[in-house]
Amino acid sequence: MSIIQVQGLRSLEGEIKVQGSKNAVLPIMAAAVLHKGRTVIHNVPRIQDVFCMLGILQSIGCSCSLDGHKLTIDGASLSQSEIPEEYIKSMRSSIILSGPLLGRTGSAVTSFPGGCSIGKRPIDLHLMAFRALGAGVKEKGDKLIVSAKKLKGADIYFPFPSVGATENALMAAVHAEGVTVIHGAAKEPEIKSLCSFLNNMGARIHGAGTSRLAVTGVKELHDSEFTVAGDRIVAGTYLAAVMAAQGSIVLNGVLPEDLRSALRIAEKMGAEIREYENHLEVSMMGRPDSIDVVTEPYPGFPTDLQSQLMAVMAVSRGTSRISETIFEGRFKTAEELRRLGADIIVKEKKAVIHGQHPLKGGFVTATDLRGGAALVVAGLASEGITEIHECHHVERGYEDICRDLTSLGAAIRGME
Ligand code: UD1
Repeated sequence: MSIIQVQGLRSLEGEIKVQGSKNAVLPIMAAAVLHKGRTVIHNVPRIQDVFCMLGILQSIGCSCSLDGHKLTIDGASLSQSEIPEEYIKSMRSSIILSGPLLGRTGSAVTSFPGGCSIGKRPIDLHLMAFRALGAGVKEKGDKLIVSAKKLKGADIYFPFPSVGATENALMAAVHAEGVTVIHGAAKEPEIKSLCSFLNNMGARIHGAGTSRLAVTGVKELHDSEFTVAGDRIVAGTYLAAVMAAQGSIVLNGVLPEDLRSALRIAEKMGAEIREYENHLEVSMMGRPDSIDVVTEPYPGFPTDLQSQLMAVMAVSRGTSRISETIFEGRFKTAEELRRLGADIIVKEKKAVIHGQHPLKGGFVTATDLRGGAALVVAGLASEGITEIHECHHVERGYEDICRDLTSLGAAIRGME
């Protein structure tokens, strides 16, 4: 599916189950490499980034099988610690394998992930953590080689709570000798689930969900089973969808706690929200109100929902503002939204959005994963047909956005 076509101005009604979390499952798959045995993961989303990570794991010798949403990884047969270049280019998150490979084998050969469409995405904090644990970092041509005779527990101080660097530091520390303390760790729910997954396979990590994580090194891990939580960003995307299209929907399989900041913002914009242990009911009657939002590390409003919220703001009453503090390239979608008639002015890290309803259907291009989803949201509130091109970006993180929205009553279809 490389094109999505949306016929707008139909309200949403109904109930769906939210897929498993992409940002939780990718580091968990990487962490499975730490164990010389079997790991079973349930509720795995069938998305391109997961397929790519599976390809990487197989290319380095792990035996993997994905049966529906159940993934079995056997790390006993791991045969190399060099990740083939073609995978690094297609998925930036492959850097997340350097921590577990370093921990398991004493070396990891990857390459600098380079820029991507939402910004520079440096890895200095990942490398700083590896060095603190006693590893050496070398560059050889395109290759990045991280190696250590022995990893030793250490204090790691992050000046910024990077999600990926926290994950890499955690995984590298699992087999390090002694105690590692990560100060200034990221607090995202995906870090908490990585800690639960690792502890469930025999690691000793304390402080999950706080900015101070303490890891006591262990020699061996054991076979384990784990269930991935629902994807808070996918749930947030459908929250944005119903706000733009109006209507009333139920999102099953998601923890409202993980989506707290987005839910509070949706309420301020006029959505009615009921929270339950493992599901959410959302109603939006009439056009949303405008609001000002700043993206921040968790528990603040997530940058991964910024584009989708911008699409909602584009059809809200009045003027909204966004400050993007995490990724500088995340405003590219504004240009595409303007093609649908949205009134958005971007200046450096700030966007000002003057809402108007409806937008006008047209041809647009997804430039990144969440930006593509935002264009779908905008299409739902546009008159006529909106055609979104380059939707392979969307498939990186959404199992089947057309299936989900169709079951909520949208007129949407994917085409080759
Ligand atoms: C993860 C998520 C991504 C989300 C992001 C922020 C995955 C697979 N991806 O990405 O969807 O948008 O968290 O919530 O989980 N930084 C540095 N040096 C580093 C690392 C990061 O300066 O070594 C900066 C980045 O440029 C960026 C900020 O820190 O400005 C946040 O990055 P980080 O939290 O590391 O995001 P990712 O782990 O890449």
